[in-house]
Amino acid sequence: MSQGQLQIQVGTRQAPAGFYVEIMRNGPIMLHGGTTIVQQFIMPDESGTSTAYQAGDSYPAKAVVAVCRCGMSKNKPFCDGSHKQIDVNEIDLTETASFQPELTTAELVQGPERSLSDDEKFCAFARFCDAGQRVWNEVQVAGKAAEDLTLHMAHHCPGGRLIVWDNKTQQPIESTEDPSVSLIEDVVQECSGPIMLRGGFPVKSSNGHFYEVRNRQALCRCGQSGNKPFCDGTHASMKFQDGLPNKPNKQGVVW
Ligand code: FES
Repeated sequence: MSQGQLQIQVGTRQAPAGFYVEIMRNGPIMLHGGTTIVQQFIMPDESGTSTAYQAGDSYPAKAVVAVCRCGMSKNKPFCDGSHKQIDVNEIDLTETASFQPELTTAELVQGPERSLSDDEKFCAFARFCDAGQRVWNEVQVAGKAAEDLTLHMAHHCPGGRLIVWDNKTQQPIESTEDPSVSLIEDVVQECSGPIMLRGGFPVKSSNGHFYEVRNRQALCRCGQSGNKPFCDGTHASMKFQDGLPNKPNKQGVVW
């Protein structure tokens, strides 16, 4: 599929021309567009619930830059060629994700005013959906307060697993955003997570086809996802560490 034939998810505005991502076969992520890469910490409240992102260090990007997705580079977030040394039995970078639109496989939770589509394979384990109230329960509550909380939880979902729909218009309630690229860092789990792409980045597979363009996407950078090139939350169970400095844990201590 050429870029002219992209599948664009309803509610997503494609990033301006020149902004896209290319997955290299057994190699890095090529980031096109010159977007600065910014660390984003998942910040918890006192009970450990994910509540907000907090920006950390920035990594100015060139017009095209190679970003590590095997987890082994000594120059993260950038690629240093370490993928050429890895044993394919330990880290297999083969893409396994489907090219089917997300909504063909998502489940729908129906509420009185809003509904929620949920495609679990895009879960990046950021846990905003479980912020005291669970988003699957909250969407079933009428009223403005419930709407605000439901949208807060869904819109922070880095991988785009969760989308809120307006029952009247039958359209997603999704914010259109400028393209941004973030390195997720999980303060509670004390581990590093995916690359969060927001703003409708086309993602080109190493086979030349494009995945569906979505407003919120999370690309694996630990090398262990079962849904490559997307994150499936495995980084949390393996406690992936990107080794970048100055990370506060929930007590404010650097980890
Ligand atoms: S970064 Fe999440 S599974 Fe690799």
